[in-house]
Amino acid sequence: MSHPIGVFDSGYGGLTVFKSIAALLPQYDYVYLGDNARAPYGNRSFDTVHQYTLQCVEWFFKMGCPLVIVACNTASAKALRTIQQNDLPRIAPEKRVLGVIRPTAEVIGQYTKTNSVGVLGTKGTVSSGSYEIEINKFFPDIKVHQLACPMWVPLVEYGEYKAEGADYFVRKYLDELLTSAPDIDTILLACTHYPLLADKIKKYLPEGITTVSQGPIVAESLANYLLRHPEIERTITRSGKRHFYTTDDTADFDNHASTFFGEKVRSESVQL
Ligand code: DGL
Repeated sequence: MSHPIGVFDSGYGGLTVFKSIAALLPQYDYVYLGDNARAPYGNRSFDTVHQYTLQCVEWFFKMGCPLVIVACNTASAKALRTIQQNDLPRIAPEKRVLGVIRPTAEVIGQYTKTNSVGVLGTKGTVSSGSYEIEINKFFPDIKVHQLACPMWVPLVEYGEYKAEGADYFVRKYLDELLTSAPDIDTILLACTHYPLLADKIKKYLPEGITTVSQGPIVAESLANYLLRHPEIERTITRSGKRHFYTTDDTADFDNHASTFFGEKVRSESVQL
């Protein structure tokens, strides 16, 4: 039986993270699940995001995954801690579930010189305050300026991220952020959809501001985690297989997923 690494997102966005993970660690088996039928998670309550995420995590465990990466900022912000602290000890104490916020918070200090960082995410991620809390644990001197960009996920979901109309909403949020904190020199794209808007974001940012996407950071952090945890690493099977699942229509998923993942994807449907 195969024991893959599970990679989870509310939909397609986590594929931007999975792409970096699969490029850095191609030897392992992977299972990706997009909960497209219930996406987006960005505006949902803590309880709902926890309930949905836990259900998906339990599905990964049934698929034989010893380790699950929650490659969704909203789910990492609103559900991960409860799953790690309350659910895992009860349902599968030998398994591990990791998120994307802590690995990003750990390294963000390497990018900023002004100690002023902008964090752009969904309403759920921003209202949870998770980035501010986690970044200040590692870098107490960094001032975190958060802003929710609710129009960015739909622009990407509907394939409008390259369209001219998208420029308006890219500028709108960047202007708002930089007007409130002109000393920002680093902007973290704290939503797995946003890397697809990176070109437009860079186009409208003044020189000297660095944009940080999470994929490579999370991939590095996972590689490091596996080195530090051989007891988990040796339980993962290594034949380089990748399987994609969605809770919604597979044709739609395959279409979008190839854009996010950068190569052709053929998914299977799953009922939770
Ligand atoms: N994947 C989510 C995130 O990174 C964005 C999409 C959603 O709202 O579900 O926050």
